Amino acid sequence: MTTLSKSKEEMLDPSSTDMRLPSWSTPGSCAALSEVIEAARCALPADVLDFLEGGAGEERSLRENQEAFRRWNFVPQVMSGRGMPDLSTSFLGIPLAMPVLTSPFGADGLFHPQGQCAVARANAAEAVASIVPEAGTYSFEAVAEAAPDAARIAQLHPMGSPENFVTMLHRIEKAGYHAVCITVDCPTAGWRERDLQDRFGSDITTMISGNYPSDGPNRPEDVFGQLFAHSGVVWSWVQLGDLMNETSLPWIAKGVITGADARAAVAAGADAVLVSNHGGRQLDGVPAALDQLPEVVSAVAGRVEVALDSGIRRGSDIVTALALGANVVVIGRLAAYGLAAGGESGVRRVHQLLRAEMLTVLTLLGAGGVAELGSSAVRANFVL
Ligand SMILES: Cc1cc2nc3c(=O)[nH]c(=O)nc-3n(C[C@H](O)[C@H](O)[C@H](O)COP(=O)(O)O)c2cc1C
Repeated sequence: MTTLSKSKEEMLDPSSTDMRLPSWSTPGSCAALSEVIEAARCALPADVLDFLEGGAGEERSLRENQEAFRRWNFVPQVMSGRGMPDLSTSFLGIPLAMPVLTSPFGADGLFHPQGQCAVARANAAEAVASIVPEAGTYSFEAVAEAAPDAARIAQLHPMGSPENFVTMLHRIEKAGYHAVCITVDCPTAGWRERDLQDRFGSDITTMISGNYPSDGPNRPEDVFGQLFAHSGVVWSWVQLGDLMNETSLPWIAKGVITGADARAAVAAGADAVLVSNHGGRQLDGVPAALDQLPEVVSAVAGRVEVALDSGIRRGSDIVTALALGANVVVIGRLAAYGLAAGGESGVRRVHQLLRAEMLTVLTLLGAGGVAELGSSAVRANFVL
């Protein structure tokens, strides 16, 4: 079993910068995302890196997520006469400088002592939004306090007691969150063999959640016991829809990869769907999220906004996802790599490099901005 190398008090010390970088690099000097990733790999212990990078089962879906982007070519228009591409957009009414949010990734204190607080500050500086995890090292309130100006969405698991779930919704409202993200593909943790072989997280106390202090009224076992015990009741869309009536905040269904589930999410009242296979960490063998994006876009038929995560590793991947119908993308491991490489400045560097590459790709494509992107910008290099 892995234990945190620092005490929780040390991890929660906001003055700690702890730049665990290789001597040859600082986040600002990383010229490409591959250098950020390399810096993160140098900074993390082997089992924490496995937890970050690994997937479920044989890791087929993990590999597919990235390979799917390579199945599409760009179709440029030269001499377009257009100016600097406009990356700005919005999602659920939240203005964004570019179509990017950061994923809810839990156990964030293992990557950097400031965890999601550093991510939220980086996001505020780059005008993108955070999805803050229920299983995060810091509570929803602490992340809000660390970056009061940041656009933020809180993520919850639909499990445990309904009373606890509603309590969490009210806490999220009170802490000034703009929306709620419900992770629907995780009624139990996936079969993650790297973690099993590393004996990582075999004790739920390894996964400290700032939202459930062990002496508080809501014991971590309520949610995390089910997550890690491989046994529990899977909620229905009807139950979830009813409970979501307890808040006026808009909500996203995260982890939908079929048209049928997307229609069910809309029927339950979701305001957006996040096409995601959890970065290949849940059910191995499901298709790449990108491969499922057109089916979901067609199923929701413009009734709700569509986001995509799983496999985004560079700016050109974002352009492909938008061309295939996503309104925004969500980055998981890329943001975690940035965090591990250098805390707030590492995450900022990830955003800056994504933005710069997107601007280059859109200019070379002849696109005036993200709002203009459509299916004519890409062509499949496989037989449909
Ligand atoms: C280390 C790690 C922890 C994660 N924890 C959560 C979580 O607590 N809740 C959740 O909904 N998704 C979680 N995810 C999944 C991400 O939100 C997201 O769906 C996934 O990382 C996207 O794929 P990508 O990493 O290829 O960008 C986690 C992902 C990683 C890498």
